[in-house]
Order: sequence, then structure tokens, then C-alpha cells
Amino acid sequence: MVEQSLWMQKVAADPGHSRWYIERFREMARTGNDLAGEARLIDAMASRGARILDAGCGPGRVAGFLATAGHDVVGVDVDPELIEAAEADYPGPRYLVGDLAELDLPARGISDPFDLIVSAGNVMTFVAPSTRVTVLRRLRAHCADNGRAVIGFGADRDYEFGQFLSDAASAGFAVDLLLATWDLRPFTEDSDFLVAVLRSVQFGN
Ligand SMILES: C[S@@+](CC[C@H](N)C(=O)[O-])C[C@H]1O[C@@H](n2cnc3c(N)ncnc32)[C@H](O)[C@@H]1O
Repeated sequence: MVEQSLWMQKVAADPGHSRWYIERFREMARTGNDLAGEARLIDAMASRGARILDAGCGPGRVAGFLATAGHDVVGVDVDPELIEAAEADYPGPRYLVGDLAELDLPARGISDPFDLIVSAGNVMTFVAPSTRVTVLRRLRAHCADNGRAVIGFGADRDYEFGQFLSDAASAGFAVDLLLATWDLRPFTEDSDFLVAVLRSVQFGN
């Protein structure tokens, strides 16, 4: 067992939290908000029909867009209520409930590695802090050779960008590109958001 994610600690303290989150995104979709910015970047990086893992997929907006674009998508999230909403609102990907710190998709019948892993919406700041490096290692273990992970989260969420990049390196990722937004604005020392494009490297190379 790993330490419970901060997200599920929030849900335990407020059982309405997941429902609130689901409805918030449903309302944004209804009122015409653009909910696919992150997914468009991932789609631009992917060859057609790529294998893509949405790590911490929540109610499915990113995974759903990518499946509609023709990719082979798996979405994993620790919150069963969000996975239920993803299945209802964005069918197409294969959705699984699970903690990223314990991610073992071959044990669940999904053995091929992923060309791309996306983790949008501050997921890395919601995993239990004691599991951050383990989560990054589990993501790295599910990447194809030369596969990439794109991970985005905001500043002032108790996970310093420098610490994250050091954790990613120790998990076997090299930095390809650092951005400040999902629409490709460059990362600077003043950026309050990080979108890290990481490449899976072979240990020992
Ligand atoms: C703010 S939501 C973002 C959801 C989705 N990525 C999006 O952008 O719409 C954060 C998500 O991280 C998930 N999460 C947090 N810790 C997790 C963990 N250890 N394993 C899997 N999912 C986790 C939560 O359940 C929640 O869906």
C-alpha cells in the first residue's frame, strides 16, 4: 500500500468533491469552453494511431479528445467517481481506476508500452508527496523506448519545479523541452506554470 493521494484525502474530507469537479467541467463543456488545449498539443506530438496514457485522467476530457483523434488511449485515475464520469462523458478510451504509484498495466492485461504519456491538470501535485518519485518511475516504466511524457502543473502547489525536474531525472527521464503553457509559450524563471516534455532514457546510456 502507498500513502493515499492528496486528491483522495480531499475526497475523504469532502465526499462531494468529485461530484463538484465533474459538474464544473460539464458546465464548462456546456458553455463552450475550450477543454482540449492540452490534448491538441499531445495530438500534434503523436504519430497517427499512437498509444497514449492519460495519467490522472479525471473525468476524461483529454483522453476522450485523443481517442476521437484516432489514438489508442488508456486513462488511469485513482478516483472511481471520476472514472465513472469519464466513461459516461468521453467514451472511447479504456479507463481504469488505480493509483499511479502502483501503476502496473501489464498486470491488468495492457502490456504494450506507450508512445506518449500525458498528465495534465496538476496531477503531480495531487499524488501523495511521498510517492512522487515512485509515480514518475512507474510512468517511465510504461514509456516505450524514446517515448515521451508531458507533465503540466502550476507553481505554488508545494512541488518546486526544480525538485520535480530532479525527481524526473532520477526516474529515468531527460528534459526535451520546458514550456510555460500548453500552447507552447517558453518557460522562463518567472513562469507560474510548467509543461515539461520529458523523454524516456535508458539507464546506463
Ligand atoms: C485536477 S484533477 C485533473 C484531472 C485531469 N487530468 C484533467 O486535467 O481534467 C487531478 C486528478 O489527479 C488524480 N490523481 C491524484 N493523485 C492520483 C494518483 N496517485 N493516482 C492516480 N490519479 C491521481 C485525481 O484523481 C484527479 O482526477
